[in-house]
Amino acid sequence: MTSVTTVTHAQTRSVGTAHTRVEGRDKVTGAARYAGEIPFADLAHGWLVLSTVARGRIRAIDSDPVLAMPGVLAVLDHRNALRVNTDYTGLMGMKPDPTCAVFQHDRVPHLGWPVALVVAETSEQAREAAEKLVVTYEQEPHDIDLTADHPGAYPVDGHMPAVTEKGDLDAELAASSVVVDAEYRTPEEHHNPMEPHAATAHWDGGRLEVVDSNQGATWVIGELANLFSLDPASVRVRSEHVGGGFGSKGVRAHQVAAVMAATVLQRPVRVVLTRRQMFSLAGYRSPTIQRVRLGADAEGRLRALEHSSLSLTSTVHEFVEPSAGVARVMYDADAHHTANRVVRLDVPTPTFMRGPGEAPGSFALEAALDELAEKCGIDPVELRLRNDPERGPVSGLPFAGRNVAACFREGARRFGWADRDPRPGLRRDGRWLLGTGTAAASFPAGAAPSTATVTAHPDGGFTVRIAAADIGTGARTALTLVAADALGVPPERVRVRIGDSDFGPAMIAGGSMGTRSWSWAVAAAAEELRDRLGLGAGIPPEGITVRSDTTEAIGSLAPAERHSFGAQFAEVAVDVTTGEVRVRRMLGIFAAGRIVNPLTARGQLLGGMIWGISMALHEEAVRDRASGGHVGADLAGYHVATHADVPHIEADWIDDTDPDDPVGIKGIGEVGIVGAAAAVANAVWHATGVRHRALPIRPDRVL
Ligand code: MOS
Repeated sequence: MTSVTTVTHAQTRSVGTAHTRVEGRDKVTGAARYAGEIPFADLAHGWLVLSTVARGRIRAIDSDPVLAMPGVLAVLDHRNALRVNTDYTGLMGMKPDPTCAVFQHDRVPHLGWPVALVVAETSEQAREAAEKLVVTYEQEPHDIDLTADHPGAYPVDGHMPAVTEKGDLDAELAASSVVVDAEYRTPEEHHNPMEPHAATAHWDGGRLEVVDSNQGATWVIGELANLFSLDPASVRVRSEHVGGGFGSKGVRAHQVAAVMAATVLQRPVRVVLTRRQMFSLAGYRSPTIQRVRLGADAEGRLRALEHSSLSLTSTVHEFVEPSAGVARVMYDADAHHTANRVVRLDVPTPTFMRGPGEAPGSFALEAALDELAEKCGIDPVELRLRNDPERGPVSGLPFAGRNVAACFREGARRFGWADRDPRPGLRRDGRWLLGTGTAAASFPAGAAPSTATVTAHPDGGFTVRIAAADIGTGARTALTLVAADALGVPPERVRVRIGDSDFGPAMIAGGSMGTRSWSWAVAAAAEELRDRLGLGAGIPPEGITVRSDTTEAIGSLAPAERHSFGAQFAEVAVDVTTGEVRVRRMLGIFAAGRIVNPLTARGQLLGGMIWGISMALHEEAVRDRASGGHVGADLAGYHVATHADVPHIEADWIDDTDPDDPVGIKGIGEVGIVGAAAAVANAVWHATGVRHRALPIRPDRVL
């Protein structure tokens, strides 16, 4: 166990100053290779065949004609595929989603379920053969409709308790001067990272290697070792560059199918998902139906708060979108009830998607707060300041830094909120109605154990190795700065290597915990190395390497409510003739711990806020009730905000540190999207006087 002192004691020449990405040149020149383009000798290509029915059984798969097609090497399906083990507990106590355990049985639980993998010499041959493969089904009736009163709904704990209850809700609501009781809906949303999921599996001298696009090599080797009953030491996962993940890049069907095929054929096999396949195989954010009831006294102080959320999951795996969790952190009330429920339907399993729980949950809760502010006749910023709790409303724990009030004050000042006329529907600019809105943001800021090594070389350079993933966040660059300061050297002397499970266990790029967790481990190893070098030892040719493991240090963190927070502000214009909503400007002020690299941090926060605009106005996956599948499962049919939709946006932060963390970092991966959609929706109300409680706020809903 290495001791953990604090890098804030070291010179902080690099942390806190803007640095372009260390791999930026490789990325813009094409030198950076992504999982689907790394060359392998003797590479074969697999193409997944997905079910065309939403529920039923596979009656027959007519492989023979396809096996006779040019270049076709194999057809894997439930009759011949390797059996895998799904009876284990994986990363962070999660049971594996059997969705990734392909070809184990003849049941079809949703449309787009993998029923076969066709492997051929070229990708084109595999695709053509896959499209010709005739699969017949015994079709059964399916249910894909999430309804508020669905009889199958039940409470689910997920990674937090399903239900929390404090106080007598009915009594406090009855005693309240002002009550808001509203239902909010968010649609099915998809991650849509720019780089599709891709994996190449091959056996290399008795060792399985998977070159992949994922959010954590440690995660993927753990799952693959369990699934295929392999010693984790005999599996290696590499993932050097990742073109976005947002929660979708864990272990999914394509890696497992690639490993099966590589094992059978004893040659490298690559499986890449198409954009359309990603809609049923990459996970997604469940639609939600949320009810929020708020009761307040005449001064806007909350007496009653109820937030309940219903989401859906598949029939094969229980995943809950814990949207009511945000109320457990943001606001207290004498009676405080929250519940997360789920219903199982004939749809793919949803998964974590940027701001899981908080993103849809904050839309409902922060829109309800805005309705309460209107009814109380209190400014929405002031209402939030009056209801800013001192301790966790459910946990009773102190906050390891909260600073919500400071974010609102700074945001209100910079946005020009003080001049706002609270009355809706009054401001016009030609055919546009104008309005402004605000909302709070929060997301848990945790840290998870990681290991790192730092090596000092005789030439004065240093190499950091950690199984981190840079999914586009700038994590590699952030770790370079953290290591440089901990070593007391310029960042040019530090080379950070990531994305390789051989570097030892590390946190995934997820839960807004990556950079914090990795920085802790990197700083610990670097500081110990600096101390050793300070003793004046010469450096041998192989260098001097120090390894850290933060398990013990993180385990001894004092219990506290640890979150990043923020305040979102938006101005919108609504075209009264077409129903079009344009966001005109946006400002987010965040309290998110120490900011390692302001350049990439701003990019992260802006990206989250833009996704909030997208969530408020554009994104919506629509399912066809008859087939059970998507309509328009591509980037033409599923509208993500583009440049033309994005106005001038500012993201900034206030001083905020977690005193218990040696690098003082919280997390910025997800907080940027939280509250952003509510700020836009609240601005649309301010512009028009109409509440939109269902997202996205499409033109046809506005008119
Ligand atoms: Mo995030 S939704 O934990 O990638």
